Amino acid sequence: MYLIITASPNKDGLTAACGHAAADGISAAGGKAEVVDISEAKLAPCYVCGNGWGTCRAAGKCVVDDILAELQIKVKECEGLFLVTPVYWGQPSERMKYFLDRFRRCEAMNQNGSAAAGKNVNLVAAAGGSGNGTATCLVEMENWTRHVGAIPQERIGVTRFNREPTLKVIEDAGKRMVKGEYFARK
Ligand SMILES: Cc1cc2nc3c(=O)[nH]c(=O)nc-3n(C[C@H](O)[C@H](O)[C@H](O)COP(=O)(O)O)c2cc1C
Repeated sequence: MYLIITASPNKDGLTAACGHAAADGISAAGGKAEVVDISEAKLAPCYVCGNGWGTCRAAGKCVVDDILAELQIKVKECEGLFLVTPVYWGQPSERMKYFLDRFRRCEAMNQNGSAAAGKNVNLVAAAGGSGNGTATCLVEMENWTRHVGAIPQERIGVTRFNREPTLKVIEDAGKRMVKGEYFARK
């Protein structure tokens, strides 16, 4: 299973179109795609427990009972991951940041190894305004992959000005992910 996490409330918006393109590419190459839209899921922000490190560092799980635990399992089980976010203020959406923040706290120093270790990740930032901030949004997600031990592959910025050609790039990235055409970390 290839996991596609999207994080926009607009069901027919640019982010959703990117998620569909990734799923189409994965399916076309014979993979099984699962899209999880976290925009309306039960997903809390990090409450920064205790002295700031919380119990997540030692326990590998968050004290908050919501969709995060399920996402940790899905990431661990997936064969590859797409993170697809709208660009808000030059950053991933607040919903995507909730996931990134809390997943990182649970997995970056997990004593059993990160659930994302060695996973190929394609990063997609969908900017529907000026397009400004697409690059900084991708940088933030790329930093996350490094923290959780994943392997960033494509960093794709899509704007309303390059929508159609870039959707094809995303679809192609899905195909190449399934075909194993990405570099492996030694
Ligand atoms: C709070 C907020 C901040 C935004 N900031 C940016 C931005 O920094 N750069 C940009 O190009 N578009 C920005 N936008 C526009 C979104 O990127 C645009 O709505 C995009 O299409 C979101 O994807 P969607 O169609 O899936 O909702 C912002 C939108 C919102 C709601």
